[in-house]
Amino acid sequence: MFSKGPVLALVLFLARLTLGYRQPYEYLEALDTFGAAFSNPAGVFNGSVPSPLSSDVVGRVDAITTFVGQDLNAEFLFGLFYQDTLLATTTQLIGIPTGITIQSAVVEPPVVAVSYISSMAFPTVNMTVPLQIDMFMAYDDESMKVVSYDAILRRIDELMAYTSPVLAPQIAEELNSTSTNVTELIELKTAADVCAVSSLYCTGQYQQYESQDACLTFMSTLPFGESWQGGMNTGWCRYIHKNLVQFRPNIHCPHIGPSGGDMCMDRNYLNVTSAAPFNQTLLSYNSSYNSADMKGISDDGVQQLVKVQTQSITMTTVAFVSAYILSK
Ligand SMILES: *[C@@H]1O[C@H](CO)[C@@H](O)[C@H](O)[C@H]1NC(C)=O
Ligand SMILES: *[C@@H]1O[C@H](CO)[C@@H](O)[C@H](O)[C@H]1NC(C)=O
Ligand SMILES: *[C@@H]1O[C@H](CO)[C@@H](O)[C@H](O)[C@H]1NC(C)=O
Ligand SMILES: *[C@@H]1O[C@H](CO)[C@@H](O)[C@H](O)[C@H]1NC(C)=O
Ligand SMILES: *[C@@H]1O[C@H](CO)[C@@H](O)[C@H](O)[C@H]1NC(C)=O
Ligand SMILES: *[C@@H]1O[C@H](CO)[C@@H](O)[C@H](O)[C@H]1NC(C)=O
Ligand SMILES: *[C@@H]1O[C@H](CO)[C@@H](O)[C@H](O)[C@H]1NC(C)=O
Repeated sequence: MFSKGPVLALVLFLARLTLGYRQPYEYLEALDTFGAAFSNPAGVFNGSVPSPLSSDVVGRVDAITTFVGQDLNAEFLFGLFYQDTLLATTTQLIGIPTGITIQSAVVEPPVVAVSYISSMAFPTVNMTVPLQIDMFMAYDDESMKVVSYDAILRRIDELMAYTSPVLAPQIAEELNSTSTNVTELIELKTAADVCAVSSLYCTGQYQQYESQDACLTFMSTLPFGESWQGGMNTGWCRYIHKNLVQFRPNIHCPHIGPSGGDMCMDRNYLNVTSAAPFNQTLLSYNSSYNSADMKGISDDGVQQLVKVQTQSITMTTVAFVSAYILSK
């Protein structure tokens, strides 16, 4: 037997799930809005496409790190794919999103689990490859802006293993290198681009390196890193951040400098894994138990609550799967 308290609490959780949220189609529209922003980063930055992010958004991408606030997240989610004019005509290791498809989605207001497939273009080699981005996104139900997201870049290692050998010969041509070593060419390109951006934007009080040569020398000592080390003390991390420098040199210059700022740094696997940046689960938002919900319920009551069997389950979930066709 259990006391009435926990049962009442459970009923309240179920009621809260079914009441007051927007309709599933509104979340699907919001997913389209997000996809449109992702495919048109220039529009987000010149204001022609509204930002889908709330002002206090917290976001995490597994292969990189956690970002707090609208500016950082917009720079990172959209700016990362916005080619700086300085480098726009050269081969880039990160593709340009040219279209996005929702492959599957589950809507459980105010949270959505979505699997996007974005077509990533590498124009200098006439290649387009798909990138699967799986995200849990929690929305502010009033504004329909994203308040938190947790993103996984699926098969990012395989994607880079697939694209690097195709990009390398083109990079060799652009850098006048006779090397045929893919790893070496990726490292050379990383150093060339990071140092070009640093020379252009990181000047005066934002200067990171004594000279272009000092930058190239430093970069040559740094491993490019694995694709999952996009938030660590690697060339890859600096390569990612070099795309963000154009937006706010004051913030991002240190990230491409020798210190790596507070972005490209040693990270401890145990710390990263145990430190969840979110205050609530990203599924069954607000129906998961936390200490506030459990206030006044004894430990024994909590134990009993876990064992409660309901007569019926109220479904509020909408799910679908669709085919992805790689656009050319
Ligand atoms: C904003 O960027 C988009 C996408 O590049 C472009 O189509 C649009 O003309 C730009 N608008 C303004 C006001 O610059
Ligand atoms: C890419 O396509 C264009 C136009 O079809 C062609 O001129 C160019 O040589 C191609 N480049 C590569 C690297 O295949
Ligand atoms: C490569 O060589 C060409 C022709 O000599 C030159 O115009 C270009 O600036 C060189 N590029 C680099 C990155 O050195
Ligand atoms: C290719 O370059 C990398 C990095 O410079 C080096 O570690 C590796 O030994 C080279 N591979 C071959 C086959 O030369
Ligand atoms: C991991 O977290 C512990 C405890 O907060 C801290 O002392 C340690 O410096 C962290 N390690 C790294 C590599 O960040
Ligand atoms: C989590 O709660 C803490 C303390 O209330 C707050 O500072 C932080 O911004 C919250 N984080 C998120 C992601 O809401
Ligand atoms: C979650 O519940 C709290 C407390 O009832 C409420 O203030 C908050 O708006 C809810 N958040 C969402 C996203 O529904």
